[in-house]
Amino acid sequence: MKKVLHIRRQKAGSNDAYWEDFIYEYKEADTVATALMTLPVVWEHSCLQKRCGACAVVINGIPRLACDTRLSSLKGQRVVIEPLRKFPVVEDLLVDRSSMMDKLREMELWLNDDAVPDGEKMAFEASKCLQCGLCLEVCPNFYVGGKFGGMAAMAPTARLLNKAPEDQQPELSKIYDQNIYEGCAKSLACRNICPAQIDIENLLVKSAAASIWKIFRKKRKI
Ligand code: SF4
Ligand code: FES
Repeated sequence: MKKVLHIRRQKAGSNDAYWEDFIYEYKEADTVATALMTLPVVWEHSCLQKRCGACAVVINGIPRLACDTRLSSLKGQRVVIEPLRKFPVVEDLLVDRSSMMDKLREMELWLNDDAVPDGEKMAFEASKCLQCGLCLEVCPNFYVGGKFGGMAAMAPTARLLNKAPEDQQPELSKIYDQNIYEGCAKSLACRNICPAQIDIENLLVKSAAASIWKIFRKKRKI
């Protein structure tokens, strides 16, 4: 069985992209990552087990993990593979996602004191985030350099929201308000894209309740 991999390529330091076709003979269990490993194309990967999020690319127009996409599951012989478009391309399929991490650093998403994990559902759901950035690719409100951190920033914030000690709650709520709540238009475009299958809708509702509702109640003294 053969697939033609139609790959968008770009040399390091150049802004000009070009397309190149590679013919790949695949076996039933082969993923896009299996194929990419045999090609002279620059891309990012690590775990190859859907755990690190490094291999996020756009496959036939849909943002996906290369190591989680079987070639046999893709219709037709031609497979179009492109880099994520929201981030600057470094070379071929490799993009610079450092802005995603910079955002988390800017939001100072950590607790000052130890917190004991209690298996609470919201924290567990949020901890599944791979920081792959696939949700940002489809988000109509996220752009690099903007205030809104997207779902990739929302998940770690949600993880802390109910964990933070009382004295850190106001600060965390403010961070959530400014970087997530005010930017999210609830399009939920990211809902079906997340490879970790995070229950994004539920997380969003609970985080907003834990953060914004608390501020609102405080202001109105209810
Ligand atoms: S929320 Fe899902 S799609 Fe977004 S970065 Fe986390 S794992 Fe990836
Ligand atoms: S290489 Fe780690 S998720 Fe694909």
